[in-house]
Parts: sequence; structure tokens; C-alpha cells
Amino acid sequence: MTIKKSQIRSMTMNDLNGVLAVENACYPVPWTAGQFVDELENRVSSILVCETDGEIAGFICYWLIAGEMQILNVATAPQMQQQGIGERLLNQAFHACRQAGLVSAWLEVRAGNSNAIRLYQRNGFEQNGIRRGYYRDGEDALLMVREFEKNQEKNE
Ligand SMILES: CC(C)(COP(=O)(O)OP(=O)(O)OC[C@H]1O[C@@H](n2cnc3c(N)ncnc32)[C@H](O)[C@@H]1OP(=O)(O)O)[C@@H](O)C(=O)NCCC(=O)NCCS
Repeated sequence: MTIKKSQIRSMTMNDLNGVLAVENACYPVPWTAGQFVDELENRVSSILVCETDGEIAGFICYWLIAGEMQILNVATAPQMQQQGIGERLLNQAFHACRQAGLVSAWLEVRAGNSNAIRLYQRNGFEQNGIRRGYYRDGEDALLMVREFEKNQEKNE
């Protein structure tokens, strides 16, 4: 598929259906509309969407508290994956957080989610711990972290 027009911007309430469509296509137990609305109303939370040819192709949701970024959710619509959207979303979120003094970024990922683990490793995350049986179905969670240096943005 050839992408004509693509932009990353903050999610608004008008994007809810598009974001839910991506979420439902990506996860067996997806977030509900109410969970997205809660995040939109939470002052420490941000959601960026990638809008491609007028459709929501992906999104990232993160919290920023005291220089620590917690990535809660990142997803790309299955038909739009492997085109760099996940990486663009991640980097745009880092950029926004650096303006606010980002020190480190943290996330949890299913130990078997190799696509996501590769995305994070490619973008500077390292495994920092493991939470055995963390998910409801018993799968382990890997805790991953990326530390940021003060002048790092200039070098990237
Ligand atoms: C994990 C996820 C967000 C990655 O999204 P994505 O948009 O496919 O990510 P990217 O396109 O940046 O990278 C994916 C791969 O495509 C490759 N790629 C990027 N641009 C490319 C291009 N133009 N042509 C070919 N390959 C490309 C990347 O190198 C990467 O390859 P790798 O997996 O072998 O390392 C996506 O798989 C997803 O939504 N999964 C389901 C939800 C999920 O598990 N989320 C994470 C929860 S912690």
C-alpha cells in the first residue's frame, strides 16, 4: 500500500472510533472506549495518533511524571504494520517528552511479543526485569527501560 499523506498529532475525542478500531484489531482483550476517554482526561496522559490518508493507522499512549515516561499502549493497524509507524510514534513521543525534561522511559511487554520487543530494542530500550505470570493468562511481562541523557536530543 502506498501512503499518500501521514501525520502524527494529539488524539482528540473525534478520533475515538478510529483508535478503537486499531485497538480491537490488535489485542484479544482490548481497551474499552471508556479507558481511552479516561486517558484523554488524565492530565499526565498523552495519546498521539498517526493519521494516514485520513484514517487512524496507529497510536501511542504514555504518561509523563517527574521526567519518567511510562508507555501504556502502542499499536499499529495490522494492515499498516512494518512501514515504520510504530517507530515514528515512539520517537515523536520521546521528542515531546524531552521538551518536558525526560529522564527515562519505562514499559512492560509480554515476553512473547517479539514484534514489540524488537521495536523497543531498536529504539534504545533494554530489559530491566521480569514479572513472572504478570498477565491474566499467566504470561510473563518484561520490564524495559531507556535512560536519556540531558544533551541526547542534539545528537539524534
Ligand atoms: C509492535 C507494533 C506496535 C509495531 O508497529 P509497526 O508500525 O509495525 O512498527 P515499525 O514499522 O516501526 O517496525 C516493525 C518492523 O517493520 C520494519 N520496517 C519499518 N519500515 C519498513 C519499511 N518501510 N519496509 C519494510 N519494513 C519496514 C522495521 O524494521 C521492523 O522490523 P523488525 O520487526 O524485523 O525489527 C505492532 O506490531 C503492533 O501494533 N502490534 C500489536 C499491538 C502490540 O503488541 N503492541 C505493543 C504492546 S507492548
